[in-house]
Amino acid sequence: MQCPIQTNLADLHGRLAATHRGELASYIPELANADPRWFGICLVTMDGVAYSVGDTDPMFTMQSISKPFVYATALADRGQQFVTGKVGVEPSGDAFNSISLDPQTGAPLNPMINAGAIATTSLVAGETTEAQWRRIESSIAAFVGRDVVVDEAVYRSESETGFRNRAIAWMLKNFGVIDGEPMATLENYFRQCSILISCRDLAYMAATLANGGVHPLTGKCALPAEHVERVLSVMATCGMYDYAGSWLYEVGMPAKSGVSGGIIAVVPGRFGIGLFSPPLDEKGNSVRGIAACKRLSRDLGLHIFTRTAIPAMALGRVYTGTAAPSRRQPPAEIRAYLNEHARRIKYLCLHGFLAIDGVEYVIRRMREMASDTHSFILDMHEAIGISDSAARLLNQARLGFVEDGIAVVCSRIRDRRAILGPLSKAARKGDRGFLVFEDNDLAVEWCENRLVRELPQASATQGSLADSALFRGVPLALLRQVEAVTRSHLYAQGEQILSHGQEGDGRVFFIESGHVSILMPLQNGAHQRVASLGPGMEFGEMALLGQTTRSASVYADTEVRCRILEAGDLGRISDSAPLLKIAVLENLASDMAGRLRGANQWIAALA
Ligand code: DON
Repeated sequence: MQCPIQTNLADLHGRLAATHRGELASYIPELANADPRWFGICLVTMDGVAYSVGDTDPMFTMQSISKPFVYATALADRGQQFVTGKVGVEPSGDAFNSISLDPQTGAPLNPMINAGAIATTSLVAGETTEAQWRRIESSIAAFVGRDVVVDEAVYRSESETGFRNRAIAWMLKNFGVIDGEPMATLENYFRQCSILISCRDLAYMAATLANGGVHPLTGKCALPAEHVERVLSVMATCGMYDYAGSWLYEVGMPAKSGVSGGIIAVVPGRFGIGLFSPPLDEKGNSVRGIAACKRLSRDLGLHIFTRTAIPAMALGRVYTGTAAPSRRQPPAEIRAYLNEHARRIKYLCLHGFLAIDGVEYVIRRMREMASDTHSFILDMHEAIGISDSAARLLNQARLGFVEDGIAVVCSRIRDRRAILGPLSKAARKGDRGFLVFEDNDLAVEWCENRLVRELPQASATQGSLADSALFRGVPLALLRQVEAVTRSHLYAQGEQILSHGQEGDGRVFFIESGHVSILMPLQNGAHQRVASLGPGMEFGEMALLGQTTRSASVYADTEVRCRILEAGDLGRISDSAPLLKIAVLENLASDMAGRLRGANQWIAALA
């Protein structure tokens, strides 16, 4: 089954390919060599999937599409204040090559018209114009996702005929907008306009802007998020020059066109679009490109003023620590306390890109639950990112809840920078920010420990064979016999006690003091914790059923003292006291049944 988006694009392409209106740009002679039949459409998702139809691979020069990316580079290098001091952000309503300068300051009205673009080219970092060129080249390469080259023929063609731009450059020098040698800057401008890209490249460049400045395939940050909004703003108001108003009204996407027939359009957080068709309308925009964007915006609902995310969609399942307790098996009295109080641990599954409205909704729900909550676990497994302002709001809420004695922690963020970055930025000086746990099991155990600390400190920190569930119901005298054949061993914190796959080991370990973690190796080399055990608990008990190959690894989380029993020794005592073996095997069976129930509960909670 072909993806419906691909089918839509193919239909649209078929319909518009038949239109033959518009003229090739010829004021740059080399551009007149383009094939007017060329027509490509490419749409890229935030995870880098490309839907493309038509001529999406032929290379052509960026021309004015280079402008928003060089503007982005100048913002990243010199900061917003400095750049807007040199180049305005007001739509001129004039054609791209109009000399629209502020009458007082001489500053170009915006960075999308040639005057503003030439000034912007002079602002990127670099002691020399050669160094500035290398900066422009590497920055654009980050947006494209590979190294770029210049079409020397088009570059020469424009450099030899760009008289109007030369006049503009001297005007800018005259007004002190350009500090350095204006003609050298202009050559860099002509070169950036002559960078070769394809329609597919344009779509990935647009998708990088839509994805908060991160290239959806390379994962490379081409532009810090705080500058993305600025670039998209000038694209929305100035990107289509004296057609910008109608464009925003009818199409509603920040966009930028070029006289070689390329157009990029950005749907923040959703898509990047690249179009290519050389024949231009009287305003210098691709005829088929404009028409295709209008249809795409209407058919796919891409207008940025269309209501998209419903705040409530930010919050998915809400369940409690009773439904999904940690995988440790605490002593009975602690388990009893947790069975009663774990409902005060609330899991909140957050979804999608968390913007201020979604987080506002989540916080409102948390406040509604607060009276009966001891800890909130924000499960970020389904979240893809969070805006800086939303992260600040969430952190403010966390600090508020902490004041009320309620903890708010995060889990399952993994290494998603789009979440970790804003959250760590939101933490003020001296505020350690959100505690982040690798998975829900570790998060809920931390919350359980917080709850258990409410208990009067009766909980046993010292365990013995008698506390082990394996020896429930075994007479004390028999237990003494067993104890006599055991030996005690002290393991240092972090020491590996058993390793997964270890052979021929019949030992059973009874924890007298300290805590251990049972870990299962995962395919990716990481480990998943399956249980955490403390005093009065045992591990390696499968050896009693003759299974001597270890099915998991065991590490000492703290200094651990264990009493070690060889399965063979228990067998020997049982020869003369069969009741012992029966009791131990019965206890083992009911313990395994308990674990199965626990695992089913988890699966149900995660389903
Ligand atoms: O400076 C010029 O005139 C060309 N290098 C770029 C102009 C352009 O692409 C205008 N866009 N519609």
